[in-house]
Amino acid sequence: MSFLRACALSDLQEDVPKRVDLNGVPVSIVRTEEGVFAINDTCSHANVSLSEGEVEDCMIECWLHGSSFDLRTGKPSGLPATKPVAVYPVKIEGDDVLVSVNQES
Ligand code: FES
Repeated sequence: MSFLRACALSDLQEDVPKRVDLNGVPVSIVRTEEGVFAINDTCSHANVSLSEGEVEDCMIECWLHGSSFDLRTGKPSGLPATKPVAVYPVKIEGDDVLVSVNQES
């Protein structure tokens, strides 16, 4: 599994998503009380950037229709989204946030 540097840990404010592009994959990086999470930035319901939504209790909300996705699993909490969003492994090394966006096959 190869990890790419996404951003600096010190650049992240708690519960404020940061959108990054990793090998062409849009990823939202979110620092919460529970740790740092990486979730695909595109809502599974329509082409909306999740990093423009709000974060609360380890969930990121899609601003367009209100589905929230669990940052740990990518699962939506309710309609209209029914499919999960991909989540990615995160490693912290010093001040670097590293994310692996490799697809497992
Ligand atoms: S576009 Fe995200 S819930 Fe509809």
